[in-house]
Amino acid sequence: MDAGHIVEDRSAANSNGTNILFLTSSPRRDTSYSNLVGMRVLRELRQVYPGATVTIRDLARNPLPHIDDDFVTATRSIAGPRSERQRAQVERSDDLIDELVGSEVVVIAASMINFGIPSTLKAWFDHIVRPGRTFDYSGGGSQGLLRGRRAILVLARGGIYSAGPLRSFEHDESYLRSVLEFIGITDVQTILIEGMGLGPDFAERAVDAAMRRAGAVAGVLAPA
Ligand SMILES: Cc1cc2nc3c(=O)[nH]c(=O)nc-3n(C[C@H](O)[C@H](O)[C@H](O)COP(=O)(O)O)c2cc1C
Repeated sequence: MDAGHIVEDRSAANSNGTNILFLTSSPRRDTSYSNLVGMRVLRELRQVYPGATVTIRDLARNPLPHIDDDFVTATRSIAGPRSERQRAQVERSDDLIDELVGSEVVVIAASMINFGIPSTLKAWFDHIVRPGRTFDYSGGGSQGLLRGRRAILVLARGGIYSAGPLRSFEHDESYLRSVLEFIGITDVQTILIEGMGLGPDFAERAVDAAMRRAGAVAGVLAPA
C-alpha cells in the first residue's frame, strides 16, 4: 500500500459497515481552509455514522503520476496491459477504484487553483475514470457505474464565483459535479469557502459559515 493511504478506525468491533473516503488536495497543507472544513465534515459524519471506517488520501502530499502512453494503452486498448510497467499502472488504478467503490461517502476537499481543481486531484480522476470499472458505454452513450454513493465537496477559493462577474471563471465545482455524474455519483452536496483573499474579516465569516454548513450537510446524510 502506498504512503498516501491512511486508514483510521478500522476494527471489526467498531465498524458499522460505512466507509468514508476523504480526499484532500490543497498544496497549502496546515494552513488550508478546505482541509480545515473537510476535517469538520469528517467529525460531523462520525456523529452520523458512529464507528465508520475513514480512509484519508492526501493527494498533495502523496501525488499520483500523470497518466501517460503506457497507462492509456494498458487501460483503453483491447489488448490490455502487456509490459510490467503497464501492469503496475493498471494495478495502481484498480486499487484507487476499489477504494472508491468500497466507500459509501466520498468527501473531496479542494483549493481553487487557477480557476479549477488542483492538478493532483485531476490526476486522481484520470486514474479512476475507466471504462468497464467506473463507467460503461451503452446504446451509443455512457453510463456511470457508481450509483448509490454520496459525495461532499469542500471548495476553498480566493475570490467569489457563486455570484458576480467571476461566475464564468468557475471550473472547480462544475468540473467535479460533471465528472462525478459521469461515473454515476449524482448525490452531491457542496460546501463553499469563498473570498478567502478578501481580507481576514471576510475569511473568518466564510469559514464560520462553512463550518455551520458542514453540520447541515452531514445531517442530510443521516440514515432515516
Ligand atoms: C497557485 C495558486 C493559484 C490560485 N488560483 C486561484 C484562482 O484562480 N482563483 C481564486 O479565487 N483563488 C485562487 N487561489 C487562492 C486559493 O484558492 C485560496 O487561497 C484557497 O483558500 C486555497 O484553498 P486552501 O485554503 O484549501 O488551500 C490560488 C492560490 C494559489 C496558491
